[in-house]
Amino acid sequence: MPDTHDAPDARDPLENWTPTGIDVTVPSIARIYDYLLGGKDNFAVDRDVATQLLGAAPGLDEAAVSHRAILARGVRFLVDQGVRQFVDLGSGLPSAQNTHQVAQATAPDTRVVYVDNDPIVLAHGRALLAENDRTTVITADMRDPVGVLAHPDLNRLVAMDQPIGLMLLGVIHHINDDEDPSGLVKRYLDALPSGSWLFLTHFLAVGAESEALERVMQGSHKTGRFRTREEIEGYFAGLELADPGVVYLDLWRPDEPLDADSLPQNRRLVLGGIARKP
Ligand SMILES: C[S@@+](CC[C@H](N)C(=O)[O-])C[C@H]1O[C@@H](n2cnc3c(N)ncnc32)[C@H](O)[C@@H]1O
Repeated sequence: MPDTHDAPDARDPLENWTPTGIDVTVPSIARIYDYLLGGKDNFAVDRDVATQLLGAAPGLDEAAVSHRAILARGVRFLVDQGVRQFVDLGSGLPSAQNTHQVAQATAPDTRVVYVDNDPIVLAHGRALLAENDRTTVITADMRDPVGVLAHPDLNRLVAMDQPIGLMLLGVIHHINDDEDPSGLVKRYLDALPSGSWLFLTHFLAVGAESEALERVMQGSHKTGRFRTREEIEGYFAGLELADPGVVYLDLWRPDEPLDADSLPQNRRLVLGGIARKP
C-alpha cells in the first residue's frame, strides 16, 4: 500500500473544517481508522493515536485495508445468498467499496442503512448518498438496539420481516466487557427474522502486541478490546456458520488462493465470519 504515514502532520488535513458536532480535540475511532486506510478525514489528534498504534503494531494499516477487503467479499457473498437489505452498525467513514456500492453493483434494489455514533460519518455520508434513495446514514449509538431498530429512517428502508444482513465489522471490540457485548449482539439477532445473517469481525487477543494496542486504544478513547477466539466464536452461537468459519480476515473466501502459514503477524490480529440465523 502507498506510504501515507510518513509523519503525523505531513498531509493537508481538515484542520480548518470544523462543522458543528465534530470535536477536533478528542480522538475519534472513525477518523483514526480513516487515517490508517490512507484517508484525509482526520485531524492531528487522530493521527497522533494512529502513529502510536502503528508503533505498537507495525503494519496495522495493512490490517485495516484487509478489513475493507473482507467487507466487499462478505457483502458480495450475502447478496449471492439473496440478501437485499443490510444494517451496517459502526459503519465508519465512507471509504473505497462501501457496503451499498458493493451490494448495489450486483443487486441495484438492495437497501443499506449505515449506523454510526460519530457525527462525522453522517456529515460525509450525506454527500455520498445524496442521490441514492435506497441508502441512508443514521447517527445513533448501537448500544441502544431498541432505539436503533425503531429509528424511522431504518424502518423506511428495511422490512423487519425479510432477511437482513447485520454487519458488525470492527465495532463489537469497541463495546467494553461491562457493556455486555455478547448480550448486545444477541439482542440484535433476536430482533431479526429467520434467514438473516450476522457478518462480524473482531480484534483477536494474541499476547504482547494486542495488549500494547489495547493500552493505546483504552488510553485514547476508552474502548478497544482484543478478545480470545472462543469469545469471538461465541458471538455466532446458535447460528449456521458459512465456510470457512471464523478465520483471519484474509482467509475468508479469498479471491486468490492463500497460504495460511504465510500470513504476516499484522494479518493475525482480527478474526471474522458470516453466519445465518436458522
Ligand atoms: C474501526 S471502525 C469500522 C468501520 C467499518 N465497519 C469497517 O469495518 O470498515 C469502527 C466504527 O464504529 C463506530 N462506533 C464505535 N462505537 C460505536 C457505537 N457505540 N455505536 C455506533 N457506532 C460506533 C466508530 O465511530 C467507527 O466509525
